[in-house]
Amino acid sequence: MANVTVPEANPAADPIGRPVDRRDGPAKVTGHARYTADITPERLLHAVLVPSTIARGRITRMDTRAAEAVPGVVLVMTPQNAPRLPTSPDTKTSPTDFKLDLLQDDGVRYAFQPIGVVLGETPEAATRGAQLVRPEYEAEPPLMGLDAAAPHTPKAAGAGEKPDATKGDPDTAFAAAATRLEPVYSTPHQTHNPMEPHSTIAQWDKDGNGDRLTLYTATQGLYPTQKRVSTMLGLKPEQVRVVCWFTGGGFGSKGPTWSHVVLAAMAAKMAGRPVKLTLERTQMFGPVGHRAPTRQQFRLGADGSGTLAALSQHTLTQTSSFDEFAEPASLVARVLYATPALSSTHAVVPGNVGTPSYMRAPGEASGNVALESAMDEMALALGLDPLEFRLRNYAEEDPLSGKPFSSKSLRQCYEQAAERFGWTGRPQQPRQMRDKDGLLVGWGMGTATYPTNVREAKATLRLHADGTAHVASATHDLGTGTWTSIAQAASDSLGLPLGLVTFELGDTKYPNGGVSGGSATAASVGTAVHGAAESALDQLAQIAFADQASPLYGASNVGVDARDGRLVRRDDPTKGEAFGDILRRANKPYVEAEGTCSTPEAKKHYAMHAFGAVFAEVKVDPDLGQIRATRLVGAFASGRLLNAKLARSQYLGGMVWGVSFALYEHTLVDRRSGRPMNNNLAEYHVPVNADVPDLDVILVPEVDTLVNPLGIKGIGEIGITGSAGAVANAVFHATGVRVRDLPITLDKVMG
Ligand code: MOS
Repeated sequence: MANVTVPEANPAADPIGRPVDRRDGPAKVTGHARYTADITPERLLHAVLVPSTIARGRITRMDTRAAEAVPGVVLVMTPQNAPRLPTSPDTKTSPTDFKLDLLQDDGVRYAFQPIGVVLGETPEAATRGAQLVRPEYEAEPPLMGLDAAAPHTPKAAGAGEKPDATKGDPDTAFAAAATRLEPVYSTPHQTHNPMEPHSTIAQWDKDGNGDRLTLYTATQGLYPTQKRVSTMLGLKPEQVRVVCWFTGGGFGSKGPTWSHVVLAAMAAKMAGRPVKLTLERTQMFGPVGHRAPTRQQFRLGADGSGTLAALSQHTLTQTSSFDEFAEPASLVARVLYATPALSSTHAVVPGNVGTPSYMRAPGEASGNVALESAMDEMALALGLDPLEFRLRNYAEEDPLSGKPFSSKSLRQCYEQAAERFGWTGRPQQPRQMRDKDGLLVGWGMGTATYPTNVREAKATLRLHADGTAHVASATHDLGTGTWTSIAQAASDSLGLPLGLVTFELGDTKYPNGGVSGGSATAASVGTAVHGAAESALDQLAQIAFADQASPLYGASNVGVDARDGRLVRRDDPTKGEAFGDILRRANKPYVEAEGTCSTPEAKKHYAMHAFGAVFAEVKVDPDLGQIRATRLVGAFASGRLLNAKLARSQYLGGMVWGVSFALYEHTLVDRRSGRPMNNNLAEYHVPVNADVPDLDVILVPEVDTLVNPLGIKGIGEIGITGSAGAVANAVFHATGVRVRDLPITLDKVMG
């Protein structure tokens, strides 16, 4: 593309994108935005899942007569009558698939496993019917907890990292270190609770080519859903269209395709009518993933100058009895601090739980809160300020691989956040500060980190003769602002005002935008859009260069720039013409291009991560132990931002989750029955507005053109990391009690 310079090929000029409002904002606040469960095809039947009440065993009988007798109940689908599938639900079509429960046998492997589906003319009829299904079981005692069985080394940590990694000789280095600590931290089972529960609408049609299935489904992965569902049902992918215009929060839970999606399609086929299956809040606690509990054994050794001599993080975590997902908590030790000796390992124990999965900052969140707490302990043991200790161990290169970072602005993050927070003068010892009401005040800090994921994605772009551009990609807006941010990427890449750019997402009729997970959407889809823009502009330039009537005629050797909807000569920007004029004279209604993104080549030679720093203040009632986060300052550098306002919102949400991770969230599973007990939003505690402190976000400018031409790293997940540790460390600083078993609740600080 030698002849065209797209403005954002030099994004250093504008590292932070314009903070324009969400394009879909008015539709959302007026109720016009259609989420999956808002879609109501003709002749729709409502489906309700029947969840198992045991966690391990076998269904011996399911009496469906009372359910079928409910007026309005149309069908009860159970393992006895469900359609037999051509493919086992344990088959994976990709390594990131999870094994499913599709009523193909009588086995029960975890509590709230789907064991039936009731279809009714109304949601009420289906709900009543589901309550009246009477399963009988042969139950066995469930395997529960991290000590339920012998651990083994998983195949991978998270989606594909090596489970174990070592550098140097951590055992010897630890033994020789002047100061040694071996804390054990544990983090709880947590459950994704997006506002929108999972929902799927399945509608079958026929055309000349046979069956067609349309799935409206709340998802973070349109194409992966198409592949998974078509494989399970024995269809070709192109027979399945998947649509999702708005995802009402995902947090990873809507990344994989879970059982209810396929069950909705099976039920719709059986009934010969469209079916809507929406999970009840309670049913979110089992069959659709969760964050697995961890127990993390650390070994930190430091020498007399406060330098880390050895760092080991070993994570024991739980997977399901039938599938494997290892919460990759130890990965953070490979990235955060310089050390000559490093060990980062994982082990898993099977249990009778639904398979755990990705939950926002999977691994990084649970590993970071523990590592940052352990670092805080070491700083105190060395008599060093926690920030000073981190600066002494600043990783100038990737600690494990020794590769340079493609970019790293952590020092700026530390400086700016510490300054804004007013960190200087913090007493080193705990329990030194009180507010005017006598509450204990504590200050803590944590380093934030998240890997930069840039994945395969495609987008199409048409530049029309009327001067507008139309861009499309089958990607998702999880509330993150994709509708707006990708339109901005197109506008920037084309040099065309944002108002002239339309962007469509959410439908497999568009090219594959990949999975919206791993904070990868802006970087991946943005890059695809940028590529499409480059190629469309190049086509346009070629037309103009060859057209004697164009002021750009013959300008191919000097080249042109695109700006304000015009191509202009690079050597003389006063000579140029509007995109539309070039097309109209050539009698072309549009030029069209597809752009693709793939994993950056530079990843072979560079480590790619975003970084940040968070400082927190908490207040603790010395008599009652009640803990309140009162103030958080976070500074993040995650590459170029497409939209400063949307980015800030992502960081704010992450910081709230950090507070939530440190102080609130915990899925309590009954050890005897294996059932999640607090399976509702009244008892599963997340911060409400009154719990959210004063939050301050600093956007530290950074552009990294090694990761992609736009310089984007990704912002969706990093905000939790750093934040949870900062809050945990602030609680210690307030109280002098080091709680190593999260969440940190009042009983534990009083204990
Ligand atoms: Mo995220 S947990 O990769 O949606």
